[in-house]
Amino acid sequence: MTTPLEEWASGDAYEQFMGRWSGEIARLFMDWLQPAVGLSWLDMGCGTGALSRAISATTEAKIIVGIDPSLDFLRYAGHRLPAMCLATADASALPITDNTFDLCVSGLALNFVPEPEIALRELARVVKPGGVVAVYIWDYADKMEYLRYFWDAASDLDTKARSLHEGNRFPICNPQTLMELWSDSGLRDVVVHPLDARMMFDDFDSYWLSFTSGSFPAPQYALSLGTRERELLRDHLQKTIPAEDDGSIHLLARAWAVRGIKAPG
Ligand SMILES: C[S@@+](CC[C@H](N)C(=O)[O-])C[C@H]1O[C@@H](n2cnc3c(N)ncnc32)[C@H](O)[C@@H]1O
Repeated sequence: MTTPLEEWASGDAYEQFMGRWSGEIARLFMDWLQPAVGLSWLDMGCGTGALSRAISATTEAKIIVGIDPSLDFLRYAGHRLPAMCLATADASALPITDNTFDLCVSGLALNFVPEPEIALRELARVVKPGGVVAVYIWDYADKMEYLRYFWDAASDLDTKARSLHEGNRFPICNPQTLMELWSDSGLRDVVVHPLDARMMFDDFDSYWLSFTSGSFPAPQYALSLGTRERELLRDHLQKTIPAEDDGSIHLLARAWAVRGIKAPG
């Protein structure tokens, strides 16, 4: 069971912290998924709508329904994509009848549901026989380097940071566990695939800047430190994160995508 450290209170704050990358990874997911046109979609944990927008931009969907517990995120999503249908709901108990959607998808959200296997069971319940359940989540423990370098440096200096490190908090975010979860839930033809986006910062200061405000665990942790400890973290991170000769920082942002098909009825 994960600790709910994320607040999901402000769509604006989320977009500033993660919006650039969530949009890119959503487009990579759609390239990989290669869906047919005219299908019905459920976007679980749609948040500010990154994946729903990518669905809308890359395929002619019949309908896109987004569910999320955060009203503020849903407002943000509805503003950006007025055509989508929105509802506040928890992934563990979807207010949706069985066999409703052609595809049930989710971007960067499954690890935040306290019991991901229950959410997956729900997605498999509401997808039609022959339909697809497909999800992607960051590779926090390894190639989501933007966050991993931060938490590795913090954990070197402070044992408390180890329990906040998302690589430790979210053990489902690896290909073996995803393969097992999907196969154990009865989905067929399961495939796991890496989605690799690139993150580029002109210099260390612009990388560090993203951890100096916001309500997400990494900036929250940095802001919770005293001035001296924060300076030590900044210095240690600057020494440990790889930089190019010109000072720019190029990072990999990998998400693991998984898909499976519900047995035809
Ligand atoms: C990192 S954001 C991802 C948002 C969006 N899908 C994206 O790709 O940018 C995680 C989302 O999961 C949602 N979430 C957290 N717990 C949830 C739950 N139990 N059921 C459904 N969604 C949940 C949050 O409200 C938030 O919008």
